[in-house]
Amino acid sequence: MQSWTPFSWRRHKALQLPAYPDAQGLQGAEARLSSLAPLIFPGEITQLKERLASVARGEAFLLQGGDCAESFDEVGQMPVESTFRVILQMAVVLTYAAACPVIKVGRIAGQFAKPRSSETETVGGVTLPSYRGDIINGAEFNAAARAPDPQRLLTAYSHSAATLNLLRALAQGGFADLHRVHGWTADFVRRSPQGEKFEELAGRITQSLAFMEACGFDAARAPQLHAVEFYTSHEALHLHYEEALTRLDEQTGRAYGASAHMLWLGERTRVIEGAHVEYLRGIDNVIGIKLGPSAAPADVLALLDRLDPDQQPGRIVLIARMGSGKIHEALPPLLRAVRDAGRKPVWCCDPMHGNTVTSSNGYKTRDFGRILDEVRGFFAAHAKEGTYPGGLHFELTGQDVTECRGGAQALGDDALAERYRTACDPRLNGSQSLELAFLIAGVLASARSGKGARTLPD
Ligand code: PEP
Ligand code: CO
Repeated sequence: MQSWTPFSWRRHKALQLPAYPDAQGLQGAEARLSSLAPLIFPGEITQLKERLASVARGEAFLLQGGDCAESFDEVGQMPVESTFRVILQMAVVLTYAAACPVIKVGRIAGQFAKPRSSETETVGGVTLPSYRGDIINGAEFNAAARAPDPQRLLTAYSHSAATLNLLRALAQGGFADLHRVHGWTADFVRRSPQGEKFEELAGRITQSLAFMEACGFDAARAPQLHAVEFYTSHEALHLHYEEALTRLDEQTGRAYGASAHMLWLGERTRVIEGAHVEYLRGIDNVIGIKLGPSAAPADVLALLDRLDPDQQPGRIVLIARMGSGKIHEALPPLLRAVRDAGRKPVWCCDPMHGNTVTSSNGYKTRDFGRILDEVRGFFAAHAKEGTYPGGLHFELTGQDVTECRGGAQALGDDALAERYRTACDPRLNGSQSLELAFLIAGVLASARSGKGARTLPD
């Protein structure tokens, strides 16, 4: 194999990348990005790998979630804070029930590029390039918006930097202190059954803290009660952007992607000789690999050999996104092949991308029940094969959107029209996300039974 460089991907076939009409503008944007500060540091990647190595050993659990696509129009504190707080709530529910640490990773601060099944979109007889995410073009249906614009690479960097700055403040600056657990629920969820259940759980946690403090435990000196670790991730789709943000770790002499802690390979670009695999093999980040129902055991093993030849603990997260109807058939052969090859990746379930349907009134949506079914199928397959179901990957927001159907709110087709705001795929809202966490907590607790699992409020 030829040697790797940050640009060796250019010798390979690159799917899903835009053709920029303004080649000079693209070069200028790349040069500018190359000169900017890294968004994350290599020491943080090492820390995430250590956390994920503990997930792979069955000692912790991974929770990854956020928008399908972030948008340049979502600015200010609210969108980021609402996603952060719902992930925090879900993590608390899972931590409490399963008595195990939950590693929190956002699809955030860089999730701007989208793979599309069609190059073009036709509306009313007019055909234009498809929308590919705010880092590439605009969503409005007109020729100017849909033209790929290299300046958007720089806007994506600035937006990511601002988001990450806020996330670091939220994670470290007091908001995530476990003593403030009562304040994490969004107003629209507070009066719902989920909100009440969370309130009861928060009450138990507060009581436990008070008990421990009464026994002489000095909470002020336990940093893990006052702050959380929160990592970022996105699909490594836009290779011009990722290349320009590749940096050298002075300590190890190895390259790392400075755009996020974890980067994942999408279902449509996991071509073994393709440009995306070529780029990812040379960087030191945590690498996710999306696996749809067409992934054969040999494909997965080839990807593992290419992306993790040294079998580094915590390096790889395999993200199965099979669909609730296919997971029972499609996942077990992969679990067996990976296990029998002696590989120990984190296995994570994305119950969103195999369960997208169109509603009677034309919205792209997903059913709460099918999402839950796929998660159950994921746990069942692992139980059968004796492997560890290590994590979950959701498209969600803490906001009160109406994009997925079902759940206790019983959202139907008509409700979708009310607040359908996603820039791409439908997300679980704050209430549905919390509800799902409570339902899954029971499944996770029994998967880990005997390891100190606790019951949740009814
Ligand atoms: C995504 O995660 O938004 C996505 C496009 O997923 P996949 O590659 O699994 O289809
Ligand atoms: Co999506």
